Amino acid sequence: MTAPAPLAPPPRKRVLSGVRPTGPLHLGNLVGALRNWIRLQDLYDCHYTIVGWHALSSEYMNSKAIRPNTLEVALDWLSVGLDPEKSVLFLQSEVKEHAELHLILSMITPLPWLERVPTFKEMQEQIQDKDLNTYGFLGYPVLQAADIVIYKADFVPVGEDQTAHLELTREIVRRFNRIFGEIFPEPQTLLTEVPRLAGTDGRKMSKSFGNAIYIKDDPAVIKQKIFPMVTDTRRVRRTDPGEPADCPVFTLHRAFVPKDKQDEVTQGCRTAGIGCLDCKKVVLEYLLRELAPIQAKRKDLEAHPRRVWEILEAGNAKALRVARATMDEVRAALGF
Ligand code: TRP
Ligand code: SF4
Repeated sequence: MTAPAPLAPPPRKRVLSGVRPTGPLHLGNLVGALRNWIRLQDLYDCHYTIVGWHALSSEYMNSKAIRPNTLEVALDWLSVGLDPEKSVLFLQSEVKEHAELHLILSMITPLPWLERVPTFKEMQEQIQDKDLNTYGFLGYPVLQAADIVIYKADFVPVGEDQTAHLELTREIVRRFNRIFGEIFPEPQTLLTEVPRLAGTDGRKMSKSFGNAIYIKDDPAVIKQKIFPMVTDTRRVRRTDPGEPADCPVFTLHRAFVPKDKQDEVTQGCRTAGIGCLDCKKVVLEYLLRELAPIQAKRKDLEAHPRRVWEILEAGNAKALRVARATMDEVRAALGF
């Protein structure tokens, strides 16, 4: 007697997302993207990539920093719980098929579509110390489209700032499919609802503002960053009541402190029952508690970078198989 064959599970929908290797990741990246990516690992066939070529589009004068920055990102990924047993973790620049597809997509992407991408003009205007008036930088979203569609991704988890790029990806897909036949699915944006996380100066936490708390920061450094943070400006004296909704520090509470404890702090703030330093101690305690195992794992991996590169190489090989299969179809569709 043979046992009935177990039903094969339905194939899981595919997720792809990427990050530019510009250095170690901060708490805003953890709360805004990584927590979501970690959760998605159990629901979808996830592909996460470190996009060195996208970094190159603005950092070409400093290209030697890209490899060490890639390692920093990979260390953060693995320590927070992106799991190579569950997801494909890989390097864009090691799967050269991305470049081939970028080239082919560039042939069918009308220039005005690229020129009207809001990030293109904004970045050119904002960033004065780099020449971003290049062919490669204009084509940044085409390369991003290639990253996504080469895996026929169904979902792309990204923040609000990437919606224009995703819309362009869908437009390129529609045009490609119309010209060459239905090869690519239109990827959907999985908008990550990100509670805004404030940096040490009260503005949005961002590497470029120099106000970030990094996942890898030593506990002593984190304390030095949090204790002097600006709070609700109404709390001039210890006896002045405040409003957590108007306080940058409380954005950290929302991300790291359990709800009941948040409520306690809110009550204490509004009644001047607690001081701001007491309040900062609360968030520091929970934050350090959450980061402790992450940082321990990171220290261990930092001592064995070879292991990290090997994990990425295994991911590259898996990604390559998928990318090659897609490119076979693409070349056939073009008649090459
Ligand atoms: N442009 C994205 C960013 O700056 C990075 C990126 C490159 C990406 N390729 C991607 C994100 C593919 C999602 C999917 O954050
Ligand atoms: Fe902000 Fe906490 Fe001070 Fe209230 S008590 S103003 S929430 S730091």
